[in-house]
Parts: sequence; structure tokens; C-alpha cells
Amino acid sequence: MNVYEALTKRRTIRKFLQQKIPHQILTKLVNVGRLAPSGSNLQPIEYVIIEDDMLLPGVFSTLSWAGYIAPAGNPQPGEEPVAYIAVLVNKKIKEKDYQRDVGAAVQNILLAALEEGIGSCWIGSVAKNKLRLLLNLPGHLIIDSVIALGYPAESPVVEEMNDSIKYWKDEQGTLHVPKRGLEDICHLNRYGVK
Ligand SMILES: Cc1cc2nc3c(=O)[nH]c(=O)nc-3n(C[C@H](O)[C@H](O)[C@H](O)COP(=O)(O)O)c2cc1C
Repeated sequence: MNVYEALTKRRTIRKFLQQKIPHQILTKLVNVGRLAPSGSNLQPIEYVIIEDDMLLPGVFSTLSWAGYIAPAGNPQPGEEPVAYIAVLVNKKIKEKDYQRDVGAAVQNILLAALEEGIGSCWIGSVAKNKLRLLLNLPGHLIIDSVIALGYPAESPVVEEMNDSIKYWKDEQGTLHVPKRGLEDICHLNRYGVK
């Protein structure tokens, strides 16, 4: 899969097969997060890979899914993620304006996961205090987000956006994800010129 294919093919996945991801693949995903661009090359991001069956249900309970269609977008029993990567920021390195670093690192991880055949959901809606306790995180680490991972059990599709940005599910359970049209967001030389 080339990079352009990966970028266009990647969709958020919220239903997963109950098949474990080999540990070395999870490590490989963190490695491409590590290599992402970083402002001033400060590299404040750290990660916790969560694959222990004892921890997975607890982490799941800290996450909120697909707000526009809740609860229809929640993974049902037997469709839960089989691993997570918690994305942390080390305050001793950088305390604010780290979000662009996180964006670049997480997108690297999502795309590398796709190449491995793994689906992902980047989750910002996290019960952070509960997760902090579960993962035994010291106070100098900010919880930014969690990446939920697993082999996909759904195939969402992109739609040209009409009047709403809200994704929806059809009668077959397929998730449709509207994206703004290229002509609406791309201007030539001066804003407003197509
Ligand atoms: C910063 C960020 C936070 C997100 N947080 C959540 C979340 O808390 N729960 C969830 O189900 N999806 C979350 N998503 C996934 C978005 O809903 C998803 O990217 C969007 O619907 C577009 O779908 P696509 O990723 O398939 O293009 C988040 C995405 C981003 C970039």
C-alpha cells in the first residue's frame, strides 16, 4: 500500500475482531509515533501499550464512542478493541502547545496500523482520572488521548458532505462518514478563487 492509498483508505474503526495483535506490531506502531515531526524536536510524547486482558475492560470503560450516533457506534460485546496505545505528554518536556506533535505522531500510528491490516479509533473522549489510576501514571504525564486498536470488523465509507458533518449508520449497519468537498476547502492563489 503506498502512502496516498493509505491516506485515502484509512477510516475510523469501532468494531473489532477478537484476535490479538502481536506485541512486536504494537511496538512497531509506537516506533513510528516516535519518529514523527516534533516542534523544536522536543519530543514530549510518551506511550503506554495496553494488551493485558486484565486491563482491557477497565480501559474500555474510560472511553466514549461515536458521539453523533451514541450508543449505536459503541463496540458491542465481542467487538471491543484488543489493544490500546495511551498517548501521553511529559510535562517536564513541554506543558502546552504540544497538540500538533500529538497529531503528527498519532496519524503516523494510525497509518502504520492500517498497513498492518489493523483498524484504529483515535479517542479524545477519555475519563482521564480513572485511566491515570488504572495505568499507574505519575503526575508529570498528561493524558492526551487513547488509540483503540484491533483487526477491523466493519468497513465504513466516505461520503461527499451535503448539509451535515454528522456520520450515520444505514440499515445494514454500515457507517457513512461525510467529508467536505475539495472544491469547498481548496482555493487557488487567492481565497475564494477556484
Ligand atoms: C482529536 C480526535 C479525537 C477523537 N475522539 C473520538 C472519540 O472520543 N470517540 C470516537 O468514537 N471517535 C473519536 N474520533 C474519531 C472521529 O470521530 C473520526 O475521525 C471522524 O468521525 C472522521 O472519521 P474518519 O476518521 O473515518 O475519517 C476522534 C478523532 C480525532 C481526530
